[in-house]
Amino acid sequence: MVPLEDASTVSDAESIAGSPPPDDPQGAWTRLWRSGVLHSCATAIDGNYDGPVRAFWQSHFARLPDGGVVVDVGTGNGALALLAMDTAHAGRKRLEVHGVDLADISPAAAGAADASAFEGITFHPRTSLTALPFADGGIDLLVSQFAFEYAPREAAIVEALRVLGRRGAAAMVLHSSDSLVARVSAERLPWFGHLLHGSPMLASADAVVDVLAHARTQAERSALATDPRAEATRAAFNDAAGDLLERAAEPGAGEVLGRFMPALSQAVRSASADPLRARQALEALRQWLRDEEERLMQLHDALLGAPELEALADRFRSAGHAVACGSLEQRPGAKLGWTLEIASRG
Ligand SMILES: C[S@@+](CC[C@H](N)C(=O)[O-])C[C@H]1O[C@@H](n2cnc3c(N)ncnc32)[C@H](O)[C@@H]1O
Repeated sequence: MVPLEDASTVSDAESIAGSPPPDDPQGAWTRLWRSGVLHSCATAIDGNYDGPVRAFWQSHFARLPDGGVVVDVGTGNGALALLAMDTAHAGRKRLEVHGVDLADISPAAAGAADASAFEGITFHPRTSLTALPFADGGIDLLVSQFAFEYAPREAAIVEALRVLGRRGAAAMVLHSSDSLVARVSAERLPWFGHLLHGSPMLASADAVVDVLAHARTQAERSALATDPRAEATRAAFNDAAGDLLERAAEPGAGEVLGRFMPALSQAVRSASADPLRARQALEALRQWLRDEEERLMQLHDALLGAPELEALADRFRSAGHAVACGSLEQRPGAKLGWTLEIASRG
């Protein structure tokens, strides 16, 4: 009855979303980090950040003095904080490493890396980078990978200048409007909206689950084969799936449908045995779609063009910092974003 690939399980669908914490304005991010991904480019980059991104960060961490204080703002599951620790261990240096995020993070509990790797890192969940828990001039290096630009711009700059003081430097990798990340995100974003608000796929899956939930015995299930209402429900489901699969080659569809369809299929298949679990799996899928849509909209709003990057650099220059702007490519032709390197005034 369900013409879909079966490559996932209901529990996969549930783990996509995790359990939503109440009263968390960053719920979409909190749920992502609780799912255990190490960084926000997890579908594109294996392990921790590698290649040119890793080299960029290592060069900054390696310059820190013994005992230096590093703060990773918008740390997520601590990818940069872990790199800072790795670099410190490799150079036999002690660093005081902090990770700050507005989301309700707990990287070790989420299993983003081996718990021992997080030893020595202090995480500050539910903490805005516009109100950092550090003294004026209290840090040596502020770092941010795809995070500083998500916060209200002027408040973020003022707070960064406060904690940098004279001795602090900063390094950032920022979203750029002409990056690969921006293009891929723009292609995917409409799909989340379509699955939530346009396609009848989820509503027809609900209807199939309802039909299956009411067929408890083998005889009732057999009777569905000739029940006109069940047949109409089945046909609507298959039509909706067929419409989506016909569009599977469109830009952005592959990754989204590749996760959505198997999880949806598995949820529906499980309905005869456990309708409650099937409904929970469908709700988890909806939550995942809403979260992805929310995060991609935030990313879209955070993108910087060249003039906005220059304006940001100028704000730090006018406070007395030397600033260098650049581009970072993950591989030739694949721009990851801008770099902004803000020297200490000391
Ligand atoms: C794209 S993720 C980047 C996470 C991490 N730096 C990485 O590279 O994997 C953006 C992060 O910034 C956080 N964020 C957004 N606004 C923030 C703010 N005002 N203060 C602190 N963190 C913020 C989000 O919660 C999210 O975890």
